[in-house]
Amino acid sequence: MGRFDHYIAGLMRAVVFEGGQATIGEVDHPEPGHRQLLVAVRAAGLNGADIAQARGGYPPPPGAPTTGGLEMAGEVVAAGPGCQRFSTGDRVMAVVQGGGQAEFCVVDELLAMPVPEPMDWESAGGFPEVFATAHDALFTQAGLAMGERVCIHGAAGGVGVAAVQLAAAAGAQVTATVRNPDSRGAVAELVAHAIDPADFIDAGPFDVILELVGAPNWPANLKALATEGRIVVIGVGAGSEVTLNLALLMVKRLRLFASTLRPRPLEQRAAVARQVEHHVLPLVDSGRVRVPLARTFPLSEAPAAYEYFTVPGKLGKVVLVA
Ligand SMILES: NC(=O)c1ccc[n+]([C@@H]2O[C@H](COP(=O)([O-])OP(=O)(O)OC[C@H]3O[C@@H](n4cnc5c(N)ncnc54)[C@H](OP(=O)(O)O)[C@@H]3O)[C@@H](O)[C@H]2O)c1
Repeated sequence: MGRFDHYIAGLMRAVVFEGGQATIGEVDHPEPGHRQLLVAVRAAGLNGADIAQARGGYPPPPGAPTTGGLEMAGEVVAAGPGCQRFSTGDRVMAVVQGGGQAEFCVVDELLAMPVPEPMDWESAGGFPEVFATAHDALFTQAGLAMGERVCIHGAAGGVGVAAVQLAAAAGAQVTATVRNPDSRGAVAELVAHAIDPADFIDAGPFDVILELVGAPNWPANLKALATEGRIVVIGVGAGSEVTLNLALLMVKRLRLFASTLRPRPLEQRAAVARQVEHHVLPLVDSGRVRVPLARTFPLSEAPAAYEYFTVPGKLGKVVLVA
């Protein structure tokens, strides 16, 4: 049996969602259309959105694949008409709107990024979504600058470890809240002051707060923010309902950002990919940022990987490998 036998037969294995669970199913392999690359997936990360989708809570945008996987890395095996940036044999990685956790995935080449030479497949598969999200939130939205004080909540998770490294590399002073005491040392090594979430007000004030946890950090976030500070809400897994003191918003002249990446128009997602290529891939090349891996699983064990993702206490990314 060769590596592409499923492709030749017209079927491939992919993560599908049934009855609130992730499982492995056989689905039609995708065909590359205009400006699309067909990628033989070598690794694909898990994200909170996959878990939410498996549970029926985060449907894919219209037209997106309904199978799992918002990021993947692999080898281009065919390029559709109009492709100019990549060709057969290239190593690419991308944020996709679904379908990354499969043997093959099609991606518009505007969303694809080259995999830097020093990066292995496991790291590449867990890189695109979290580094794109972290870079977009910290720099494009909140405008984090050299020397500023930033607090990253939920810093041991996939987005958190990306955000800590990017903020530190940009010359910010990084405080990271980490619930699991056993993970604080490893997060500190990414160049952060890693603390218990209960202690973050005293560690402030902060120019920027990156919220990856949600409601439990409110209203303390408003207290810990410096005058003219910025808060970016990216994750609300621990709750989304809070009471906001609007007077405090005014008095501090603060700015509040909130965002999701997946439903944005293709042009905006492509712009995010160009930012990551320009500002982050050189840091991968030079070894200044990396993808901490909590654990890898073979694609065939995707259900176990989905279960593992939800267990508290992990550090970094969970990645499926071909
Ligand atoms: N808006 C977007 O575009 C976008 C993109 C990517 C991700 N996200 C969201 O951003 C969040 C983070 O993503 P991720 O990939 O980093 O997830 P992750 O790997 O599961 O990490 C989440 C982190 O938050 C911590 N945490 C959870 N509940 C907590 C609580 N009540 N108190 C303190 N810490 C808590 C976890 O600690 P434990 O291990 O101790 O539980 C973990 O370290 C998720 O909600 C995800 O869905 C949003």
